[in-house]
This record gives sequence, structure tokens and C-alpha cells, in this order.
Amino acid sequence: MNQRLTSQNGAPIADDQNSLTAGARGGVMLQDWQLIEKLAHFNRERIPERVVHAKGSGAYGTFTLTRDLSEFTLADHFRGVGKQTEVFLRFSTVGGESGSADAERDPRGFAVRFYTANGNHDVVGNNTPVFFLRDGIKFPDFIHTQKRNPKTNMKDPEAMWDFWSLNPEALHQVTILMSDRGIPASYRHMNGYGSHTFSFWNEQGERFWVKFHFKTQQGIKNLSNQQADKLKGIDPDHAQRDLYGAIEDGEFPKWSVNVQIMPEADAEKYHLNPFDLTKVWPHKDYPLQEIGVLELNRNPENYFNEVEQAALAPSNLVPGIGASPDKMLQARLFAYADAQRYRIGANYNQLPVNCPHASQANHYQRGGAMAGTGCPFHGRSPDSAGSVNYGPNSQNGPAQQAQYAEPPMDIAGAMARYDKTVEDDYQQAGDLFRLMNAEQQQALFDTIAATLEQASEAVQARMLSHFEQADPAYAEGIRAAIAAA
Ligand code: HEM
Repeated sequence: MNQRLTSQNGAPIADDQNSLTAGARGGVMLQDWQLIEKLAHFNRERIPERVVHAKGSGAYGTFTLTRDLSEFTLADHFRGVGKQTEVFLRFSTVGGESGSADAERDPRGFAVRFYTANGNHDVVGNNTPVFFLRDGIKFPDFIHTQKRNPKTNMKDPEAMWDFWSLNPEALHQVTILMSDRGIPASYRHMNGYGSHTFSFWNEQGERFWVKFHFKTQQGIKNLSNQQADKLKGIDPDHAQRDLYGAIEDGEFPKWSVNVQIMPEADAEKYHLNPFDLTKVWPHKDYPLQEIGVLELNRNPENYFNEVEQAALAPSNLVPGIGASPDKMLQARLFAYADAQRYRIGANYNQLPVNCPHASQANHYQRGGAMAGTGCPFHGRSPDSAGSVNYGPNSQNGPAQQAQYAEPPMDIAGAMARYDKTVEDDYQQAGDLFRLMNAEQQQALFDTIAATLEQASEAVQARMLSHFEQADPAYAEGIRAAIAAA
């Protein structure tokens, strides 16, 4: 027997197929609250899509620690070999809208949430170890060049290359994006990176700088431009289909989790600025250390509730893991929660995918839209624990825990807007180019030429001068590919 159909107030519905009308031919009665409720809710089904990374796929799984990191960090999920921590991972493309094709040439988002015993820890990274920029003040301008031109409402190669030609710090990431790794064959067949430098701290108050790497165990697979173009037409959701299907079939994708660890004092003397997001730390200096396995093994029950409303944020940190002076990371610590308060609402952290599953939220924040939703993992919302709504109090309310204080971080210097051109923009981009074989280099030239040739000559010339500084052969190849286009 079916369950009874009801309206939102739980009242049984007698007829859900015919509006209430005056006579068989209408008009429709304003008193048809049942029709009004249905249409009004429908009108509110969409929330704003993410301003970037709007198209995505998500799944739950497990992180299993295989190497104890107690000597470096208090973080619960990195202590005790064999410990398992529930995770949620959302993959995405960056520049497209929520209905765009999965096979675009674009970085892929790789945003992992660890539901730890001391709160949610999110690593909101990409499938690349670096980024286009080293200062968050440039991010809105950069994204404007990746999205649609406000006049034509079309993608704009002139804007894209104009911006990159005026920001050579992007060259390393541009080289990765235009390379044969620029279009992953699926979300399962790519690596993920925390990209930024974060910090670990331990019981002794020692700090270490750390980078996270997630290496696919499915093997790296990429699409050529031709394969991707075909797939965009045949199946714009191919990456969603691949991930969902693999998990339904019990083929659980896995990534080995690795860290690079740098003692705090090394940062001063290292030949690179370790907080510059356009650079990698060469593995010969700071080798990858494998610490565990991340497996995805459960599809969400409801895409909108759990994936669209997922609110991952670099500011979701837990005791033992902190930020670093990385200027991009600092900007992101503000940007995500702010976007989510707007996109979902002030109490987005009470939704089941966002609330801490393995730690109970207890605080004195009260009210706001949709307060009191409650976390199903604890059966109550953080604001329902009695009436006391201020702290400290003498009513046995939640109390601060001094043992979780982050050790002090030395920050010194005169306040100014420092010129970022003192950093080298070309060495690592050139190194990456020189690592490619001739076939990979040719594919890189052709992919770059395909859009660069649509930009003005002034922009092309400026861009070629940057390729030249990375490697003269890099510029030469692109010049020839543009001439042949
Ligand atoms: C999503 C801002 C740089 C990776 C977002 C969102 C915003 C944003 C507002 C949407 C959040 C939401 O509505 O839930 C920024 C700003 C940046 C920046 C201001 C620079 C200062 C980066 C970098 C990376 C990155 C460097 C990777 C290394 C992501 C990912 C998502 C995202 C993966 C999607 C998260 C998800 O799956 O829900 N970004 N972003 N972003 N960003 Fe950034």
C-alpha cells in the first residue's frame, strides 16, 4: 500500500491532478492553497549555483591511516595506524555552469572532507599542485576571464590570454592546463592536491609546513581534444556517470594519500618561497610520504541535498592543522564560508552533509534562517542544547578547551602591498615543458595555438615573450603552430 500523499503540513491530499476551478473550464480559485504551495515551492527549487566549480559530482567513503603522524600533528584522523575516518569528496570543473559538459579543458576540483572526531577537516584542492595566481586579490578578475564575456555572453579567448599575458605567474598552471593532462578522462583517473602549504602542529608546539597529495590508484587517464569534443556532444555528464556507476558496481575508486613535510625553520632558507601557490616543492627536497588510502564507496541518496548543498571550505580546519602565510590560502579562508552563507543560508552547517558527523557542534550561535535543523548524527542542532546562549556562563554550558590552542606563529614585516614580481615565474614552467617528450610538446603547442591564435597580435606577442623566457623551444613551437593554424 502506498504511503498517503500529503501537503507540507501533513494533511492528506484528495486530488493532486486537478486544480480547484469555478466550473469545468476555469478560472482557478485563489483559495487553491494546494496548487499555490506546489508552484511556490517549485519556484524556489534552485539555489544560486557556485560562482566557480558549479558542475560537480560527489561521493562518500573512508580514509584509512597507514602511517601514524603523531610526531607532527594533533589531528585525530592522522593518529593511530588503521584508524578509519568517514570522508566526502566533491569533484568539479571550474569555469562552466552547473549544466556544462564534464569533458572541458579545465582544472578539476578535488575537495575532500574528513569527518574527524575533532570536527570537519576540508582539503579543497584541484587536480593540479599549483594555481594560476599567488595572491587572492586577483581571483575575481581571473575568473571573469574564464567565464562569459558580459556583452557577448560567450567565452572569450582574448580576455583569457590578455589576462595571462599580463600575469606571467600563471605560466606554470597554463602549461599544465594546456598539456595532455588538461582533460582527465574521468574523476577516478586523476590525482588530487591540496595545492597550498598548510601547517601541522604537535603536542610540543612544534610546527611543520605540509602539502597534501592524493594519487589515483586507477592510473592517470586523459582525453585528447578530439575525444573530449565528441564526448561533450554524446554525454555531457560522462564523469558523473563514470563515478556514480563505478560506485554502484562496487568498483570503489581509491587514492593513496601522501604528504610533503617541511620543518618550520626551513621556510626562511629554502630557495623557493614555500608559500607561493604557483610553485611545487621538488620531491627531491621534500619527498612524498605515504600516509593512507582514501576510498569512495557510497553514492549520495539525493544529489541536491548532499552534493549541491555541500559547503566545503579551506577554513574548516581542526586542532593540529592550520593555515600558512600563503596569500591565496588566506583569501580563501574568508571566501568560502562567506559564499556559502549567501548560496545556502546562515545555517548551512546544520545540513546533514555539512554538520560534523563524528564530533558534536556546541556553540552559542543562535537563530537565523532555518535554525534548528539538527545533525542526524547527533539528533539535535547545536543551538538546541538548553536555553543558555552566552559564554562563559555558570550554567554548565560548553566551555573552551585550552589544550587545542595553536602555537604562536611568527609574523613580522611592515604593512604594504608588496610587489609580487620579485618571484620567478618561468623556471618551473620551463622545467615542466622540458620533461615532456616531443609528442607531448607538439600537443601542447597545438592546444595553445587553437585559442591563442584567436587573440589579438599584441596579446600573442606578450604571451610568446613569456613562453620564450620559460624555454625558447616552447615559444618556437607555438609560433609554428599559430602559423600553421
Ligand atoms: C569553489 C573562491 C582559489 C578550488 C569556490 C567557491 C568560491 C571560491 C567562492 C564556491 C564555494 C561555494 O559556493 O561552496 C575562491 C577564491 C580563490 C579560490 C576567492 C582565491 C583566492 C582556489 C584554489 C583552488 C580552489 C587555489 C584549488 C587549489 C576550489 C574548489 C571548489 C571551489 C575545488 C569547489 C568546492 C566544492 O566542490 O564544493 N572557490 N577560490 N579555489 N574552489 Fe575556489
